[in-house]
Amino acid sequence: MRSVDEVTGSRRLRRMRKTDWARRLVRETELTVNDLIWPIFLIEGEDAAEDIAAMPGVQRLTVDRAVKAAEAAAKLGIPAIATFPNVAMEKRDTTGSHALDEDNLINRATKAIKAAVPEIGIITDAALDPFTDHGHDGILRDGVIVNDESVEQIARAAVGQAAAGSDIIAPSDMMDGRIGVIRDALDEAGFQDVAIMSYATKFASACYGPYREAIGTSGLLKGDKKTYYIDPANTEEALRETEADIEEGADMVMVKPGLPYLDICRRVKETFQLPTFVYQVSGEYAMIEAAAANGWIDGERVMLESLLAFKRAGCDGILTYYAPRVAEILGSGA
Ligand code: PBG
Repeated sequence: MRSVDEVTGSRRLRRMRKTDWARRLVRETELTVNDLIWPIFLIEGEDAAEDIAAMPGVQRLTVDRAVKAAEAAAKLGIPAIATFPNVAMEKRDTTGSHALDEDNLINRATKAIKAAVPEIGIITDAALDPFTDHGHDGILRDGVIVNDESVEQIARAAVGQAAAGSDIIAPSDMMDGRIGVIRDALDEAGFQDVAIMSYATKFASACYGPYREAIGTSGLLKGDKKTYYIDPANTEEALRETEADIEEGADMVMVKPGLPYLDICRRVKETFQLPTFVYQVSGEYAMIEAAAANGWIDGERVMLESLLAFKRAGCDGILTYYAPRVAEILGSGA
């Protein structure tokens, strides 16, 4: 048997792992508060918050409470929030027409947050699923999500969101051509400065369940979203989709879900060198919380490790329900 010295030569990687200071010195990746985008759920009403069973610690907030949450986020140094409305059932229809109402829940929240907390970025999703009575992200006709009409509707919703004060339109619907049509619509309406963060590679994942509870679509959704989200088996298609969105005018791209798709994060970042974001989705949050609640894992450490993994994979930022908790931990210097 050879000795360790014979095997390694003089190379001993443990030298730089010996102490905390040495580990900090050679650390390649860092998670900071500047990497965080906080998704917030909205609900009608005043001064109220509702728990979401499958997302312990996350609540739906009335607009006034969302303003307070945005204030707290800004104080913690979180650069941006992303809002998702739970729309009253009677306002949902087959075309998601309420998405176009300038006074709908998401637009009212944007206006209120902009007025009270101008220093935080607001990202809004222009998809139709919170507004449709079938829970799909587009217009449903004869069992088919019709692409072009959906895109027109989504672009109109995006212009309304920009008019309300949204800084970044983040369409999560995956219809063909939506980025280019939204860009044109924004420009024609005078919103040249409103950016687009494309949910460029959104997979037909099983990890969105708790989110659907949060916005009230789980009971509504008929069928699945496989005709418009990407097959989880496909990488090349994800890259083609990203390329198309960039050509159509996306300023930033996103990969969603997060942890099961780190390889996609890495390839998107390396291939396109655009600001690349990742969405640690509701199911990922629920998995960590459930295991932690059972005492099976150290929830805080697993959370921080998973967020760090996104940075290591090349992401510039992360949409995470943990944003305020992480910001507090990072702020305390732990
Ligand atoms: C749909 C949308 C989804 C999420 C955000 N917007 C997925 C879906 O319901 O199909 C998921 C976010 C999460 O799971 O945290 N436009």
